Formats: sequence, C-alpha cells, structure tokens
Amino acid sequence: MLTETQLKDFDRDGFLVIPNFFSLEEAKRLKQRAEELLEDLSLEGHPMTQFSTGGEDKKKHIGDDYFLESGDKIRYFFEEGAFNDKGELTRPKEKAINKIGHGLHMLDPVFAPFSINPTLSTMAKQLGFSSPKVLQSMLIFKQPYIGGKVPSHQDSTFLYTEPLSATGFWFALEDCTNENGCLWFIPGSHKDVPVTNRFVRNPNGGTTFIGDSDLKVDESKFVRMEVKAGTLVLIHGSVVHKSAPNYSKQSRFIYTFHIIEGNAHYPKDNWLQPTAESPFTSL
Ligand code: FE2
Repeated sequence: MLTETQLKDFDRDGFLVIPNFFSLEEAKRLKQRAEELLEDLSLEGHPMTQFSTGGEDKKKHIGDDYFLESGDKIRYFFEEGAFNDKGELTRPKEKAINKIGHGLHMLDPVFAPFSINPTLSTMAKQLGFSSPKVLQSMLIFKQPYIGGKVPSHQDSTFLYTEPLSATGFWFALEDCTNENGCLWFIPGSHKDVPVTNRFVRNPNGGTTFIGDSDLKVDESKFVRMEVKAGTLVLIHGSVVHKSAPNYSKQSRFIYTFHIIEGNAHYPKDNWLQPTAESPFTSL
C-alpha cells in the first residue's frame, strides 16, 4: 500500500522511489531468470542476424515486423553498437542485448506473476486507475561498456491515451548508479511539459514520431536517481526522464512495465497494438 505521503510525493514530482520494495533474494532470482532468457536467444532467424536473406529493404521490413508484433511475445533487441561493418556480433550475444520485450508479463513464468498480482493492483487503484491494463513489459540490460543511453522523453509519447494515463513500474534488479546509467528526472515536469510527440505505426511500414519532437527542457533541472537493487520506481507518463550510457564494467539490469487506463481511448496508430488473441492484460 502507498502512504498518503508517497501519493503526495508522486503527484508533486511525477515519480516515486520505493526502496526495498522487493528483497535482494528476489532481485537475484529475477536477474537469474533474465540471464536464462539471454541464454535462450537463438541467433538463427533473428532479424538482426539475417544478413544473407535479402537487401536492406527486406531486412528492414523483417526487423520492423519483429518489433511491431512483439507486444505478446518474448523478443530480443540488440544494442546499436553490437555489430561490426560485416554484420557480425562484436561480443557474446548475452552481452549484446539492449532489451527483451514486450510480453514478459503475459508469458514468462517468473515475470508474469511478479507483474500481475494483488499488491500492484492495489497500488494502481490508489493511483486512480479504475481498469488498469498492463502492457510493454521489458528487461533492459545496459550491459557493461555498451549499454546505450536513453535520451530525454515522456513515456506517454510511446503509450498515448486520451486522456493521458500511462504510468511506469520500474524495478531495479541491480544497484543503479551514476556509473552504470541510473535514471534522471526533472521533478514536477509532468505538470508543465505537455506531451506533444507520439510514437506511432507508419502507414508505409515501420514506426515514426508525429508532432513536436523538440522537448524543450532545462537540462540543469535533471536530478540523478541512484537506487539499490530491490527498489521500485513509479514513473508518471508525462514526467521528463532519461538515462546515461553505461561505460562501466558493471551491468544495470532492470525490469519494467507500464499500465494504462483501460477506459481511456487507445489510438489505433499507437505503435503497440493489442490483438484479438492477446488483448491487454488486466492488472
Ligand atoms: Fe521511459
């Protein structure tokens, strides 16, 4: 249960850090499961490794579909710098993956029950949701020396609803530090930075941004949020946040998913779409 103070802090800042939300043993178990999933990846047939199946257009098309159809699957996305000019991996596959997504909350025997449970359901209700739906679950790795940065953004850009409702649940499976790419927030920005940019399906294939992509924020207002393994961070869909690259030798494994209000309008051009077989999961 969230306390009155926590709810007030979340409303004021647009994010809420909850240390020791889960135990270190649990964090270890989740990290182990993440490592198993990395080992399970078969490079054969992965679009990023299909360099002999056709020209750039075909490769791009296969890559787009792999991403767009990942909402109810467990799929693997590489770091940008993971391949050399010849299309060969520059490091072992386990150290080259940026993220796994986006249906872990539906399919994975460890992450599904960790995501869909009465505690988080109560929390969503406290945050004002009447019909919370879970979507876009991800393991994000920030592997040593290669983990990419995430530029300033608002999550509602990616999970736009009318009215806005996206809220992130972000779980630290390892300590997140300045060195390995912890989160940074602009406190209160959810109140004064409107969401003007949307990540949508491009009618001609793939994805694109529409609207004003220029986030006008004062970079000096960012505060660094270093957290320990076992921490839950709640993230308002409109709060501006980012994370730095990981050039350290220490990985930064996190698990995250988002919820939206099931009664809100969910546009048909949002990048992530439910299907008849896989509607969004109720929390
Ligand atoms: Fe985000």
